Amino acid sequence: MCPQPENIPFIDLGREYDNLEQEWLSEVRKIGTQGHFVMGENVTRLEQEIADYLGTQHGIAVASGTDALVLSLLALGIGSGDEVIVSPFSFFSSAEAISIVGATPVFADILPDTFHIDPACIEKRISKRTRAILPIHIFGAPADMGSIMRLAEASNVAVIEDCAQAFGAEYYNKKAGGLGTTGCFSFYPTKILSCYGDGGFISTDDADIAAHLRTLRNHGATDPFMHAEIGRNSRLDEIQAALLRIKLRNIDQILEARRNVAERYNERLADIVRSVPLYPENSRHAYNVYTIRTANRDRVKQYLTSHGVNVAVCYPKPLHLQSVYKQLNYQYGDLPVSEQVCREVLSLPIYPNMPTQHIDRVCELIQKTSKILQ
Ligand SMILES: Cc1ncc(COP(=O)(O)O)c(C=O)c1O
Repeated sequence: MCPQPENIPFIDLGREYDNLEQEWLSEVRKIGTQGHFVMGENVTRLEQEIADYLGTQHGIAVASGTDALVLSLLALGIGSGDEVIVSPFSFFSSAEAISIVGATPVFADILPDTFHIDPACIEKRISKRTRAILPIHIFGAPADMGSIMRLAEASNVAVIEDCAQAFGAEYYNKKAGGLGTTGCFSFYPTKILSCYGDGGFISTDDADIAAHLRTLRNHGATDPFMHAEIGRNSRLDEIQAALLRIKLRNIDQILEARRNVAERYNERLADIVRSVPLYPENSRHAYNVYTIRTANRDRVKQYLTSHGVNVAVCYPKPLHLQSVYKQLNYQYGDLPVSEQVCREVLSLPIYPNMPTQHIDRVCELIQKTSKILQ
């Protein structure tokens, strides 16, 4: 019998855990002995360390990336009757957060090459009710923040960066999360800086917004048992914060390792697929997700899967066409670029130090499909 080729995982969290186990468990033991499990010293230090890394004045740890978006919207006073312009090509949370606070997501189409919200489409959707633009640094590539900030300033609206997939991405030498009014990060296990559960983070340069966020994440409390407004329970625990602090020390190596994998894919796939990941000039991709566009996407996916390669379609359906938003009355054809992109995208395995032979095998299989499917 011929030996079966190894399965290629989409992401390999076990490998990372093996390397961190000793250091993390020793922190867990310390936390257990001290008996301070939520919002203690590790959280306080993590907030400062991440803010320093991002180059922002303030950092607020929260319970998830979705909460980071919701709390940012609440801190800006956005709610019922307000509109927020957002890309339809993202994970659901980007729009869901807007709906959670009672505002209306207004979807603007994306650019076909970078998959980012198109500034020309934003401009057409700005109305008297617009309170914020919510660009998504999709897959880890920074959106065209120069144009977005100019539009926001001209209309006097806030910019909430969805950085869930973009820890460490850069735009003109500034880190994602340090460009808009707030930056919202997720530490979900598949993210670039990730914990072993849920976690999130908000960066901002605005001291008033930061203070408001600190209150909102803890039941609107200004002092112990003193509640000035309705908030949330959105605190980060010490065990996750300790892990994030350990990983943060090596974040530049983590990013470099991701970029190396992506570069190898880029070299081998550039002439084979419709497009490899593209991103604005003077920016640095963080490659949380490596997404190509390809003709015959579903057949390429099936071929790779049948050969043991775990791939994903991020995302199969744009947000304006999700059944939950039926009442917003978008029709198929309204945002044609995002609709087309959803038919063509395919995300390939990527994680730091992915074995070179696995990258090459994925590329060889894609090359074969391009011949078979021509
Ligand atoms: C673009 C984007 N925004 C927001 C989120 C929400 O983050 P979380 O899962 O931590 O709530 C995610 C998570 O996958 C995401 O990819």
